[in-house]
Amino acid sequence: MPIAMKNTKLISINGKIYSPQEAKISVFDRGFLYGDAVYEVARSYGRVFFELEKHIQRLFKSAESIGMDLQKTPEDYIQEIYQVYSLVPDENMYMRIQITRGEGDIGLSTKLSTKPNVIIYIRHLEFPASDFYSKGQKVVTTDRLRNSKRALDPNIKSGNYLNNVLAYRKATDEGAFEAVMINTKGEITEGTTSNIFRVQGGVVYSPPDDADILRGITRGIVKSLCSELGISYKEEAFSGAELEKSEEVFLTSSTKEVVPVRQVNASSIKAPGEITQRLAMAYKEYVKKYCEERKHLGVVRV
Ligand code: PDD
Repeated sequence: MPIAMKNTKLISINGKIYSPQEAKISVFDRGFLYGDAVYEVARSYGRVFFELEKHIQRLFKSAESIGMDLQKTPEDYIQEIYQVYSLVPDENMYMRIQITRGEGDIGLSTKLSTKPNVIIYIRHLEFPASDFYSKGQKVVTTDRLRNSKRALDPNIKSGNYLNNVLAYRKATDEGAFEAVMINTKGEITEGTTSNIFRVQGGVVYSPPDDADILRGITRGIVKSLCSELGISYKEEAFSGAELEKSEEVFLTSSTKEVVPVRQVNASSIKAPGEITQRLAMAYKEYVKKYCEERKHLGVVRV
């Protein structure tokens, strides 16, 4: 039985439901103390969480990479997310699942805690203003390094996003939608919560997997859509200067889909470019098909 009105925000902590005001976590939680946590963000279209299996798979990979035992199966977590969702009548929701290594005495040893804390946050997902996609967005490059693989692999979606937070300050200061970070070679990596692409000579370029980026789920879909649409796609490093001179630039993320970029630093970019538009439309079609199939198969559990 749904317990909430439209536009609700609900938080589940270890299976107990709270309002955002009531939801509390211990000061001894290792997520709070050390960023010792993993997380995922997914969204629903209608009542279907898009690519939730892939998000949960990545959550498990992140946890494995930091030696965190999630103590349940991926299917258990999917069920739990849909259970929380069943309490809310809304469609088109934002969902963040964060699992910390749990609580324990202060100290770096991961053995100080044995029971993870599982937090599921669900809230309404606002659609961006109608001209968000048609006008395109501004991006700034920063000299902030994305964590290198040997420091903290960006493919671990961990509770430690401080380098992204610091990079994003430049976006805030300069009225940009997103800030893009570089790697130790000075190559463009990704946005603070998105992947970046450039189009040149009809070819879509994305920084390679080993360029200190998160292998975004949306990026993966865009890559396969390029192949379906007969658009050349290459994973090749590029610099900030090359990004500024691109014919088209776009960003991708689960919550924002394919976002055309109209400006990189002081340089104007045509937005939305033709290839960006084709990919954005193909992405919408892919989402529609995915959700229809799930409904048809009865995969939606609410
Ligand atoms: N961010 N790069 C980073 C650093 C990210 O945090 C994200 C996702 C992406 C895009 O990944 P995907 O296509 O799988 O959503 C790339 C989510 C949306 C967030 O933290 O809110």
